[in-house]
Amino acid sequence: MSSLHGFGLGIASENAAGASLDTFYPHPLAQVTGAAADVLQGVTGHLDVAQLKELASALEQTGETGLAVIARQLMDTDQRVVATPLADNVAPDSVEAAYLKLHLLSHRLVKPHETDLTGLFGLLPNVAWTDQGPIDLNELPQRQLDARLRGAVLEVSSVDKFPKMTNYVVPAGVRIAHTARVRLGAYLGEGTTVMHEGFINFNAGTEGPGMIEGRVSAGVWVGEGSDLGGGCSTMGTLSGGGNIVISVGKECLIGANAGLGIPLGNRCTIEAGLFVTAGTKVSVLDDCSETIETVSARTLAGRSDLLFRRHSSTGAVQCLTKKSAIELNEMLHANN
Ligand SMILES: CC(C)(COP(=O)(O)OP(=O)(O)OC[C@H]1O[C@@H](n2cnc3c(N)ncnc32)[C@H](O)[C@@H]1OP(=O)(O)O)[C@@H](O)C(=O)NCCC(=O)NCCS
Repeated sequence: MSSLHGFGLGIASENAAGASLDTFYPHPLAQVTGAAADVLQGVTGHLDVAQLKELASALEQTGETGLAVIARQLMDTDQRVVATPLADNVAPDSVEAAYLKLHLLSHRLVKPHETDLTGLFGLLPNVAWTDQGPIDLNELPQRQLDARLRGAVLEVSSVDKFPKMTNYVVPAGVRIAHTARVRLGAYLGEGTTVMHEGFINFNAGTEGPGMIEGRVSAGVWVGEGSDLGGGCSTMGTLSGGGNIVISVGKECLIGANAGLGIPLGNRCTIEAGLFVTAGTKVSVLDDCSETIETVSARTLAGRSDLLFRRHSSTGAVQCLTKKSAIELNEMLHANN
């Protein structure tokens, strides 16, 4: 029996030479099996109206009606309609495949690290994201002039390889104060709030609920009920800093302007302003505030119920075992 890691039917934007700039998949599928997989596995590339009609009928017979409805709607567009099957969970080999993987993440169909993104960065073109859609940077000056000749302004909201997530999908139950701060490929669990200072990169995200006022770097995962305080930073693995994947457990608090360079267990707190990197020397204190041992922070990775602080008199970084969890703000977590 056939199976697919993913499948997308969507609309691709192209530059004047026909190269893809992005692809929008309104109803991506992950882990397709059974009759639907049999129908979809051979469907690839540009589809014309007749092919879409045939696909819609075949999908209706398999019970995959959600995608069939999309196929029928796509029959009415003059845009370029593409089908992208992902046979296996391997590195993407086209802009369309790269975009499908980013969609799978933001639609919560796969979690960060569950789909192979090797080489994704190199595949994606750097694009001007405008109120007229994505525009190839070589074509931008002419498009700007064209707009001005009509007495209009072409609004360029960013120049980047990744567009903002919300122009592709807004997953249920989230609040995002500034949409440009969440890239396509971010995974926002139900109940996640991202405030203006918050940022979530691709292949990173939150289990939800949670309050994100700091930066969730590429690859980082934040557990249920955790808060990232204003301006705090979680270290990604894209450049420098080693290859340890950073994660935050459940019900943690990363204080304002703090930083995290080790994976944290559950119910941990980092004092506002303290940056804990893997090599930071940490004095581990007992209940009487006596130093038991001094270790590199990496040896505390994944341990629960820890509080990290910088002693305000000595400057030493200390780790205390938390006797009670810091109260997280229930109102903020309510997410409405
Ligand atoms: C680290 C932190 C959690 C400690 O909070 P707390 O447990 O409520 O601690 P308190 O401030 O009540 O202090 C408890 C004791 O620890 C001592 N203490 C706290 N921080 C200390 C430090 N850095 N150095 C030395 N002693 C310290 C206090 O002096 C106090 O001692 P005492 O009992 O002898 O008076 C808090 O300072 C913090 O940084 N919270 C982050 C909040 C935040 O940024 N939220 C996000 C908003 S966007």
